[in-house]
Parts: sequence; C-alpha cells; structure tokens
Amino acid sequence: MRVLGIESSCDETGIALVDATGGARPRLLAHALHSQIDLHQAYGGVVPELASRDHIQRALPLMQQVLDQAGHRLADVDLVAYTRGPGLAGALLVGAGLACALAAALGKPALGIHHLEGHLLSPFLSEDAPEFPFVALLVSGGHTQLMHVRGVGRYELLGETIDDAAGEAFDKSAKLLGLPYPGGPHLSKLAETGDAQAFKLPRPLLHSGDLDFSFAGLKTAVLTQVQRLGDQVAVRSADLAAATQSAIVDVLVAKSVAALERTGLDRLVVAGGVGANRLLRQRLDAACRDLGVRVHYPELHWCTDNGAMIALAAGMRVQARLAELDESYSFNVRPRWSLEELIA
Ligand code: KG4
Ligand code: ZN
Repeated sequence: MRVLGIESSCDETGIALVDATGGARPRLLAHALHSQIDLHQAYGGVVPELASRDHIQRALPLMQQVLDQAGHRLADVDLVAYTRGPGLAGALLVGAGLACALAAALGKPALGIHHLEGHLLSPFLSEDAPEFPFVALLVSGGHTQLMHVRGVGRYELLGETIDDAAGEAFDKSAKLLGLPYPGGPHLSKLAETGDAQAFKLPRPLLHSGDLDFSFAGLKTAVLTQVQRLGDQVAVRSADLAAATQSAIVDVLVAKSVAALERTGLDRLVVAGGVGANRLLRQRLDAACRDLGVRVHYPELHWCTDNGAMIALAAGMRVQARLAELDESYSFNVRPRWSLEELIA
C-alpha cells in the first residue's frame, strides 16, 4: 500500500510517499519539503494567512516532485493522509482540502493524522528504530509532553506544559535577545559561545514532584534581565542565551529522567523540533547512560515538521488496523486536539 502524506499544520509544506505493504515497517520512497522561514522572517513569527496561501502554492508542485522522485504516478497512491491537527486552522484546511480532493478524484480513501503522533512515530523513519514500549519526550513549538507509548495509538499522557511550550520558550527568549525567527536554532547557536553560569535563571517546576512543565516564568525572567542590561544586551547576549538554554534543558532532562523512573521503562524517544537541540541531546545521552536507558532521536531533518512522519504514521495506523479510512471526503480540521483523544 502506497501512502501519500501531506503536512501543512504550520510553516512547512511537507509531502512524502511511503510504502506500507504487509507487516514490515513502512518504507520511505520519497519526500520533499518547503520551509516558509524566509516568508515569515520579516514579521518575527508565523503569519497564519501568509502560511495558508503559501501552502496552496507549494503543495502540488512538491507532490509532483515526490512522485517523480519515487518513479510513481498519482494513480499508484492507495491512501492520501494529511495532518488534521493540531495547528493553524487555515494552514490545516489547505492540506485537508487537497488530500480529500485528491483522494476523491482517485477513488481512494483519505486519512486525517494527528500531528503529534507523526512526531512521536518519526524515529521509526530511522534504520535503528525503537521498540515499544517507550517514554516519549515531545518538544515542539506548540507542545511539551511526556507520554508513555505502549504501541501505535496507545498513548498515556504523563505530564505536559501548563503554559508555554519548550520551543515557545526558546523562540520568545530569542526574540527578546533580538534574534531572528525561528528563534530556537539561533538561540542555541549563540549559546555555544556563552557562559551558562553568567545569569541565574529559574527552573520552573523542577522540584514539583509531578511531570508537568512551565516555561512562562522563564520568559519573564529573561525579559527582566534584558531590561536590566539595557544597552549592554548585545554584549551579554551569548551568556544570556546560554543561561536560557541551560534552564530549559535542565528541566526537560530532569522530567524525562523522572518519567523513566516512574514508568520503569528503559527506552526514551525524543521528538519534535526542540529535539534537534544539541545540548538537550548531550545532556539526555549522559543522564540515560547512567540509568542504562537507550535514547532514540529522529534524524535532525525528521525532528522538525515534515511530510514523511505523516505518511509514516498513516501507514503504521493502517497496519495496526487503527485507521478509520474516510471515503466520504468531508473533512473537519482540529486546530486544538489532544493526543490522548486518539487512544485506541
Ligand atoms: O516540531 P516543530 O518543527 O514544529 C511544531 O510542531 O511546533 O518545532 C519547531 C520548534 C520551534 O520552536 C523551534 O525554535 C524549535 O522547534 N527548534 C529548536 C531547535 N530547532 C528547532 N529549539 C532549540 N534548538 C534547536 N536546535
Ligand atoms: Zn511539529
């Protein structure tokens, strides 16, 4: 079964084709991605209306590119999967509308996929894929969650952020430091030349005893430092970036370790854009080595949004007999959508 996957939840148009024949792990045939970073950079963040319009322009040419790369025609597609949510409503509607129109024209089913399930399963795109069960640390621009993953569609929320997401904390702090959008990668690059001890920043909920996160206070602490520094911000920005990154990473590592201890599991999967962060990877590797826990990361280009994870999640759902294949071609997107609602 060949699955076409369409991701359009935010500022990346991602299209991919996977082969999900039989019981073997779905195999990626081809993928293509267009990032809208240049489009939104002047505004310092994603402009939803511009994002939707750009998805409309990019999706079909990218799809053709993917089919050409894979040596297939549209008629070879057996299932059209798309990101149904969470994400920007208009952007999601572009992918959903396109997927359902294509599926209707082909006489094949369409399947709406949860964006976070795509991230969660993205390590299965790697040669060295994890085995179930595992603890997943999902860290993206909009979400920070720890999940107990028993299998496809079997997700238990262990803890999540009560306010800002980790990626949001990176992005907002970066903005306060005058760095361009998207802030996370810029802040982490700047942090490499800074001294993380130079500023004392809070580690919210570090000792709360539960697995929840809170990053809004950290952003306020960074703002206070920026105001205090005044003209000196530019001179001290590397130190402040390093201190901010260190505070975020400390909390993510501590809570991940607590989740592993609580569940007794010996595998950790890290997914979502912040999973690309180098310090987070180093610190998790060190902590998990001590615990005898194996850590799996998706390859860097699968950490951020992409179509491959959507096609993959669709293929794995079909194989697990958990897909409600839709041949009515009516669709409704879910801009807000909890992963727990997916539970099989
Ligand atoms: O998963 P993703 O591509 O999109 C969402 O679903 O949100 O994650 C994007 C987030 C942004 O907040 C971005 O700043 C952050 O991931 N990010 C990073 C790094 N690369 C991307 N944060 C810290 N360090 C990085 N290297
Ligand atoms: Zn994402």
